[in-house]
Amino acid sequence: MGNLTSETIRAEFPVTSSYTYLDSAYWGPYPRRTSEAISDYVSQRSTTAYPFGRAEEDRVFVDGVRAKVATLWGVDPSEVWFPKGTTDAIGSVASALLKPGDEILVGGLDHPADYTVWSNLAERGITVTVVPQREGRMDPSDFERAITPRTRAMGACLVNTYNGYRQNLEALSRVAGDHDLYLFLDAIQGVGHLSIDVAGTNVTMMSAGCYKWLCSPEGLGVAYLNKDVAGKIIPHTAHFYAYEPRGNDWESFIREIFAIGASGSGPRQIPPGALEYPDGANRLEVSPSVISLIGLNQMADLLIEFGGMQAVEERVLSLAVSLRVAAQEHGHQVFSPPEPEGMSGITSVGVADALDFQDFAKGRGVHLCPRPASPIAGEAVRVSPHFFNNEDDIGKFVETLDDYRGR
Ligand SMILES: Cc1ncc(COP(=O)(O)O)c(C=O)c1O
Repeated sequence: MGNLTSETIRAEFPVTSSYTYLDSAYWGPYPRRTSEAISDYVSQRSTTAYPFGRAEEDRVFVDGVRAKVATLWGVDPSEVWFPKGTTDAIGSVASALLKPGDEILVGGLDHPADYTVWSNLAERGITVTVVPQREGRMDPSDFERAITPRTRAMGACLVNTYNGYRQNLEALSRVAGDHDLYLFLDAIQGVGHLSIDVAGTNVTMMSAGCYKWLCSPEGLGVAYLNKDVAGKIIPHTAHFYAYEPRGNDWESFIREIFAIGASGSGPRQIPPGALEYPDGANRLEVSPSVISLIGLNQMADLLIEFGGMQAVEERVLSLAVSLRVAAQEHGHQVFSPPEPEGMSGITSVGVADALDFQDFAKGRGVHLCPRPASPIAGEAVRVSPHFFNNEDDIGKFVETLDDYRGR
């Protein structure tokens, strides 16, 4: 157990003093230390001259955050990179690895944002085949049955955004390994509250935006890229942060570039292979959003101080179980699948009119999200407690549901 406990973590999140906030699957509130660290940075940037060499300092800082994420995920730091968000990362990797004529199998419960990536792949001549859901769940053996000789990859949401169903990662990874397929995971609804064991699996890449369960600013994602795959990827773009001058220091690199550009005798070509990409996942990185990474850095510390992802998962799942039990005891319908291995921090609860209930609950300081549970379930709200919530919050939610029904 870390320094922070389920009793003390609450004080780190100022939102809890004004609201019963149960909507981290939509938007994660900042911890107090994040708002302090970001405002210190902003005030420093607005009052001091930008010091020469700061870029190098930023690089060291970014690598420090990378190391913390690697610790939380139990992977090598070279397998972590910072994209702009979940789908940015999936699109970058999938479009680099797949070619026209290849096929990718995708999940019938994937998020609409994933479908924009899948459609973009289709426009590149890649066949996208949708594997249907079954009663709000994805079954890895359905993926396996759909494989054809042209199938090269599978793309799936680790945790369903509507009913919170958690995919069987082990089984999906086995299918990927047995059939030599790339596996791309949208994990935005899991990273930050679940312990996701990707090390040693056949997951090719996994990504998450930081603005939900990671309670950090928008415009930043965090991603894993299997080290055996990184070398096969030519990034869709290159940034000087992502290039490592071949054995040269920065000064000689700059001189080399200037020498190419300095020719007074007409155009000159940059020779192919003039530069080398880093070996690791950071070959996919562009200019870092330092301000957003300051937020992620603080949240990573909090997660580590709480005892790591296993401790966070236990806390969040215990709240999800309380919520399910209390809602059912009070006669409300729970749409999220009940099997423990399929649970996440998201619970979908039936309500007569979700939008109207959202307003009603807001009037009592209770925040949640109107979301259909699945293509087959009825009207529902999505409730997503994080590790800073407590049993009183769950009680308040169920009481609000009761009062809404009894109006
Ligand atoms: C499951 C899921 N995937 C993807 C996204 C979009 O993520 P991003 O903006 O980081 O690409 C969302 C946002 O709600 C989501 O819930």
